[in-house]
Amino acid sequence: MRILVTGGAGFIGSHIAEGLLEAGHEVAVLDNLSTGHRKNVPAAAKFYECDLRNDDLTRSTLRDFRPEAVSHQAAQASVAISVRDPRLDAAVNVLGGLNLLEACTEQGSQVRRFVFASTGGAIYGEVPAELRADEATVARPSSPYAIHKLAFEGLLACYRDTRNLPSTILRYANVYGPRQDPHGEAGVVAIFFAAALAGKKLRVNGRSQAGDAGCVRDYVYVADVVRANILALDGRVEQPIMNIGTGEATTTEELARGICQRLGVEQTFEYGVPRLGDLERSVLDASIAFRYIGTPVPLAEGLDRTKVFYTERRD
Ligand SMILES: NC(=O)c1ccc[n+]([C@@H]2O[C@H](COP(=O)([O-])OP(=O)(O)OC[C@H]3O[C@@H](n4cnc5c(N)ncnc54)[C@H](O)[C@@H]3O)[C@@H](O)[C@H]2O)c1
Repeated sequence: MRILVTGGAGFIGSHIAEGLLEAGHEVAVLDNLSTGHRKNVPAAAKFYECDLRNDDLTRSTLRDFRPEAVSHQAAQASVAISVRDPRLDAAVNVLGGLNLLEACTEQGSQVRRFVFASTGGAIYGEVPAELRADEATVARPSSPYAIHKLAFEGLLACYRDTRNLPSTILRYANVYGPRQDPHGEAGVVAIFFAAALAGKKLRVNGRSQAGDAGCVRDYVYVADVVRANILALDGRVEQPIMNIGTGEATTTEELARGICQRLGVEQTFEYGVPRLGDLERSVLDASIAFRYIGTPVPLAEGLDRTKVFYTERRD
């Protein structure tokens, strides 16, 4: 199949592009390189430097590559930036996405399947202690980022019904793994690996106050996200919406300890106040996804694999 991966110069998209090439597909990447890097794009993939906010360029990219399926990973992907600049978030995540949907459904388009990177980590809002949010949990997005992701999910349902564009929505938990950018505001695993290797203190922001063990998250290894994308692009996922996570709850402090232990560095943390807009607890019920992708990679194993990247293959 000819598959277009938007955001394929970024962390998750580049892994999906690689996985699709390994599975024998023809792959092109569309990316504006705002947070992604040209070196992340696999050599065997065609590359289109294109901003989704540019309607004409988006259309001409799709006309040129003529994809049969699209994995839409490109996004303004930071909750914090969306709070500071909600217009930017809407411009990329809603209007840019709409340009892509229009290009996918214009006359002559061969796109038969559309897979969307949504957010399980932000869309459900606070997940109470001991519970996990499944796909039937009512969405309670509280940041512009999550609100816009939910809006785009609604647009996909509309294009499914009115333009005959089949789609699968994958709601990711907190994704981590090799190539995640440690310089952004999101991606605590990458930030902690980089800080620990540089001999800096790891900052644990409080969950309800400075000094506690920090927020609770569900950390999912990027390979599981790739597997889910490939199955969905193949049309093998029946559900229109599927959570991608592990169901395991981990505090920021537990994560920090695990990373320091692996690197054999002293555990020196600084404890900050809660960050504005951060959810206290987010854990997903991803049991539907387990039926497709099997048991997810445990955090300990995922951190071991990630460590190899940060310590041996830094590029
Ligand atoms: N990383 C996570 O934990 C996580 C969790 C839930 C959902 N997601 C979603 O997964 C997707 C990939 O996230 P990531 O962590 O790899 O982020 P990333 O920032 O590494 O990748 C996003 C890519 O999109 C590109 N991009 C941004 N704006 C664009 C535009 N206007 N036009 C074209 N390309 C543009 C960037 O250059 C980058 O390469 C995003 O949709 C994100 O919202 C990520």
